[in-house]
Amino acid sequence: PSIDDLKTIYDFEYICSKILPKNAWYYYSSGSEDEFSLRENHNSYHRVQFRPKILVNVKDIDTSTTILGEEEDVPFYASATALAALGHEDGELGISNGCAEGDFKIPQMISTLSSKSLGEITKSRINNQTHWFQLYVNTDRSKALDLIKEAEKSGCKAIFITVDAPSLGRREKDVKLKAQPSRENGISKGLSTFIDPSLNWEDAKFLNSQTKLPVFLKGIQRKEDALLAAESGFNIVISNHGGRQLDHTVSPLETLTDVVPLLKEKGFKPGTDIEIFVDGGVRRGTDILKAIALGATGVGLGRPILYSNSAYGSEGVKKCKEMLKEELVMNMRLLGVTSLKELDESFVDIQSLKYR
Ligand code: FNR
Repeated sequence: PSIDDLKTIYDFEYICSKILPKNAWYYYSSGSEDEFSLRENHNSYHRVQFRPKILVNVKDIDTSTTILGEEEDVPFYASATALAALGHEDGELGISNGCAEGDFKIPQMISTLSSKSLGEITKSRINNQTHWFQLYVNTDRSKALDLIKEAEKSGCKAIFITVDAPSLGRREKDVKLKAQPSRENGISKGLSTFIDPSLNWEDAKFLNSQTKLPVFLKGIQRKEDALLAAESGFNIVISNHGGRQLDHTVSPLETLTDVVPLLKEKGFKPGTDIEIFVDGGVRRGTDILKAIALGATGVGLGRPILYSNSAYGSEGVKKCKEMLKEELVMNMRLLGVTSLKELDESFVDIQSLKYR
């Protein structure tokens, strides 16, 4: 279909289910084992309801926010996803351009396992867009340090150490197809041999000490770890890797409701002392508003970006972010807020969140 006929970001997923080669579709869409977490990530958003405010002048709506001290047009970003070239030959370059082009831009987190090299992606940077780097820590630590240095040199503004993947979750659609995706440049080593399962807090703190860039731990799934991370000087991404790692985990949205009150109680100010991002299952402007109301300072999108890039290249990514922003603006108006700063927990009811 023509890109102008698309109405929601779910349309990209549907199109990909029809047009992508099986290995790409299974690799992108799968979750681990029974795919409970994959479904629950999304479903949990349906268990948070709004409490809209009336008679607010909502003529002008401002979706901008500050992330890591930088003004961003919207509070959402493209999260790291490996192997974008399985779905579209432009790979991460399409994602990068789609994030940067048009009336507004969104930050892009670049995966260690990108199809294109970090240098190629960051050299394509336009409109002064924000690039971040996601790090899988190699068994050979000097490689991890080299990657951090390369990310710094190439203008990335933050490092995200992924901590929910000491080994790879079993994504059974993938396993059944026996199509282990391989890197475009021919390095087809299994991902699990590349990532170091011995990575621990001391290692993470050491890596943090080796860079001036802000460092995030990506894959926080319990409030105790969130507090430890905050006390150790990390920012955090509450995430279960899009339901691709341990199955049957609490949804990131629900974990957010545990983490934010605890960090606040301990004196951390979200957005000032620490960034608290959340990802997994976000498909609507309303999902983003719910996460922000519950204290998230940034919201990540994984598959929606891969699907829109696979279906239409950079134009698709641009359309995807535009649809989400339109939904944000309309729903902020309906909710009775003119700026994201006004959002707080009083705008949502989370009583049903625990009832799965
Ligand atoms: C991912 N994700 C991921 N995370 C990461 O830290 N490094 C990576 O290389 C990848 N690769 C990757 C590939 C694919 C195909 C998917 C779907 C996901 C996880 C990603 O950053 C993010 O946490 C989730 O995708 C968010 O969930 P949604 O938006 O896909 O539901």
